[in-house]
Amino acid sequence: MTNPLISAAGITIAYPNGLTALKDFTLDVAQGEFVGIVGPSGCGKTTFLDAVAGLMPVAGGRLTYKGKPISGINTGEVGYLFQKDSLMPWRTAAQNVYAALELRKVPQAEWRQRAQDILQKVGLGRFTDKYPAQLSGGMRRRVQLAVLLAFDPPVILMDEPFGALDAQTRTIIEDDFLRLWEQNRKTVLFVTHDLEEAICLCDKVVILTAHPGTRKQVLEVPLQRPRTIDEAKFDPEFPQTLKTLSTSLRAEVGRTLAL
Ligand SMILES: Nc1ncnc2c1ncn2[C@@H]1O[C@H](COP(=O)(O)OP(=O)(O)OP(=O)(O)O)[C@@H](O)[C@H]1O
Ligand SMILES: [Mg+2]
Repeated sequence: MTNPLISAAGITIAYPNGLTALKDFTLDVAQGEFVGIVGPSGCGKTTFLDAVAGLMPVAGGRLTYKGKPISGINTGEVGYLFQKDSLMPWRTAAQNVYAALELRKVPQAEWRQRAQDILQKVGLGRFTDKYPAQLSGGMRRRVQLAVLLAFDPPVILMDEPFGALDAQTRTIIEDDFLRLWEQNRKTVLFVTHDLEEAICLCDKVVILTAHPGTRKQVLEVPLQRPRTIDEAKFDPEFPQTLKTLSTSLRAEVGRTLAL
């Protein structure tokens, strides 16, 4: 790939206790590409997103953003929907969104309306003034998504963003997210355990091996865009794509369980 936005070339990432979480991992991501990352639990998916966000240093290889090594947190460019709940518990849903608007230097007079609009978009229009503790897990997840949308960064890192949602809400939020993405084609790195979701949303899906994770395969998703979740699931290419992905991943999950 010429001029990838994000490029990992043979990177190794280790934790201070000496554990190697990712080994000799290579991946190029073009600007505007929607890339899925799947792999068995503990293979290093979150660790990779942390490295792209500048939260984890690489111990070997080269990890670059716009051709320059990533060193330190890339605040303006990268938005990260963490696997863990990252809402500020002492702030309401709207006030959590304000934090992102403030970072983007939106005039304070506009915060209320902007937060209301964004929370409405994720189906939480009636919950703007609730605190995280007063919301369900799925609702908290949607507030986190609202914060990310308010921040509106060029690169979006999402770590199992929709896993906590019920199936129906999930499809609606995924469709909304796809529609938003079509409007501005941000670069997205999307970690999920749900292979159907990966196929429906992504341009390509990277499969990682069992721990320590390395790249096993990159699968191009052969579906048309724009698409909705239902259109993707009923596409004639969908079953074979799912089968390929599932077979490849199952072998790695099997290895993880045998470790
Ligand atoms: N802070 C830490 N210190 C030491 N080891 C860690 C730390 N965080 C994660 N690890 C280890 O690094 C490896 C990769 O972890 P990581 O969280 O990246 O996996 P993952 O692919 O995101 O898994 P999951 O699908 O369960 O979220 C695992 O073996 C894990 O035990
Ligand atoms: Mg993880």
